[in-house]
Order: sequence, then structure tokens, then C-alpha cells
Amino acid sequence: MPMRFSERVAGIEISGIRKIFEAAGPGSINLGLGQPDFDTPQHIKDAAIAAIREGKTGYTSNNGIPELRTAVCKKFRKENGLVYDPDQVIITAGASEALHIVMQALVSVGDRVLCPDPGFVSYNALATLAGGRPVSVPLARDLHIDVEQAKGLMDGARLLVLNSPGNPTGAVESKESIRALVEYAADKDVTVVSDEVYEHFIYGGEHWSAGRFGDNVVTINATSKTYAMTGWRLGYLAAPDEIVGQCIKVHQYCQACATSISQYAAVAAYEGDQHMVKVMRDEYQARRDIIWRGLSGIGLEFPIPEGAFYAFVPMKPEVAQKIIESGVIIVPGSAFGVNAPEYARLSYATSRENLDRALDRIRSVIGG
Ligand SMILES: Cc1ncc(COP(=O)(O)O)c(C=O)c1O
Repeated sequence: MPMRFSERVAGIEISGIRKIFEAAGPGSINLGLGQPDFDTPQHIKDAAIAAIREGKTGYTSNNGIPELRTAVCKKFRKENGLVYDPDQVIITAGASEALHIVMQALVSVGDRVLCPDPGFVSYNALATLAGGRPVSVPLARDLHIDVEQAKGLMDGARLLVLNSPGNPTGAVESKESIRALVEYAADKDVTVVSDEVYEHFIYGGEHWSAGRFGDNVVTINATSKTYAMTGWRLGYLAAPDEIVGQCIKVHQYCQACATSISQYAAVAAYEGDQHMVKVMRDEYQARRDIIWRGLSGIGLEFPIPEGAFYAFVPMKPEVAQKIIESGVIIVPGSAFGVNAPEYARLSYATSRENLDRALDRIRSVIGG
């Protein structure tokens, strides 16, 4: 007898990105990764070690330790102009869990969930797992969200996912676009899920938190990218009381609480010296310049990435394939939805030397 699986799970695919890593030859240069190549700053590690030494190793309260929720609220106020109460914050296992519990709490069977396409791979899958129907929100040619098209899809939708700075595009949305979308969504009774994990890596323009423009917003963030802490699995969501009251149920039953040790480390991240964030930002910007100049120099033209650590470059799938075969792992646009099959994502979260070597290999494929 064949095994039986739930339609929700059988209906989604394992991320296309993993398949590419598996197919890449030995000695490949990896421009496929979506994680910082920096180490977590020492004072954050020290706080985790101290937490272990002090025996802070049991369950915490479901929504997270009060000192972390307070630190997150201080950060929101100072960096984002957002006013949340610590009771309106849930500490999660990375932004990924925050996205999951929001979808589970807000999406009913058949609800439309508007997701940027091309966009981060999880949005569609998590909407589907929640029983919803993901709907692609197309981007304009400059890779920014097409506000008018997005508005046109909002009638009857349940959620709109915003992600600025964006993965895979590196686009940073303007204050005007974010305000227009949040206000229009409020009129249409659509809740906005704002994924802001790349907020500190911006090299042009400014970060605007969607929550500045309305109460119909769930703000999602994490220590993962900002503090080079992807493996610590520490993120959070913040939202009005009613939404948090439903999300906490999902979190309680699927996670109980975020890792206690990571929570103490995150307090040190938010309360401690922020110098390393600037160091990382400046290094990403220098690499962004290297990759943009290098690719433009061989005739691959695209708007200069404004944020995150990705270049999203127009190229035919055959060319992307040849680049992968030449020993540079990149991710074809088809991994990020249906709208950008003739693009590829190149991550510059790798050393300048690796970028130079990768550019040489790409040059030999393109023949520039
Ligand atoms: C846009 C975006 N959101 C969320 C995540 C997941 O973050 P976390 O590692 O905190 O779960 C990623 C990871 O690549 C991402 O690119």
C-alpha cells in the first residue's frame, strides 16, 4: 500500500535551492547561500555561554523572556519608530517560525495570501501549509513591488506579505509605496505581514517599517541576518493584541518557547555594542559594488541592488545552468516563483576573493 500524506504537505515542493547545492560540483564557489558569512559577535556568544553556566536552560515563558521582549520594544521604538508593548511580542525560532505561526493563525482554508513573486521561497509554501491560496504579486521591471498591481489583487485577500529589503531582489521599497500599500490594505481588511529581516543592510534609500502606517500589520524580524546568527534560530513577531492572542496558541503548541540560551544571547545583541552591524553593512556594500561592477562590465545589466546581500540578474536559464556547471553556485529565478524564470540570484555573502574568482568564471562563460 502506498504511504498516504496530507494534501497540504504533498502539494508543496522541497526548496529548489537545496537541489542546486546537491547538483553542484566539488570546488564550486557558493553564491547561493542566504546567510551571512560572518561569525556571531563575541559579546553575544559570551552572553549565551554565561546563560549556560548560570543554568538558564529550562523552558522560558511561551512568548519569550521579558528582558528580551523589552529590548525588542526598545529597538522598535528607536530604529523603526514603532510602539509595541512587550506583551505584543512573541519570540520565535527565527523569522521562519514567526511567518509560520502568522499564516496558521490568520489564514483559513481557501484564503488568498498575496506574496511577492519573485519572493522568498517560504511565503508560498507556508501559505499553502496553512490551507491558503498563495497569489503572486508581480514586481515592476525595476524589481520593486508594483503598487497598482498589488492593490488590484487585494479585494477579498486575507494577507499581503511585504519584504523590504527584498530577497531575492535586493530592492528597498520607498516610504510612499509602503504607506500606500498598508493604507489600501487597511481599507480592504487585508493584514500586512512585513518581513524586515534585512533592514540593516541597505546601501541606498531608507528602511520604512510597514507598522508605521497602520495597525493592520504584523512586523517580523530576527537576529539571524543582522547579527549573523542564523543558526541560533531567534526571531520574533509583533502585532496588535488580538493577533498576538491567536498566534501565541500556535507557537505554544508547536514550539513551547524559543531556545532559552539564544534568547539571552539576543538580549546582548540588542542591548550591546552595535558596531559590528555597521562593519558587516559596509562590507556587504563593498561586495555589492564589486559584483555589480563586475557583472555590468561583462554586459549583464540590472538595477544596482539597494539592500540585503543579493544581486538579481536577468539571464536565460541555460546561461545560469552553464554558470553553475563552471563552478559557481547561483540560484535560478524559477526557485523564487513563476515570474522571473529568466533571472538568477547571486548572493554576495561571501569573501571578496570568492567574488573575484566567481566573476572570472562567469566571464569565461559569458565570453566578455
Ligand atoms: C526574506 C527572509 N525572511 C525570512 C528568512 C528566514 O529567517 P530566519 O533564519 O530568521 O528564520 C529569510 C532567510 O533567508 C529571508 O531571506
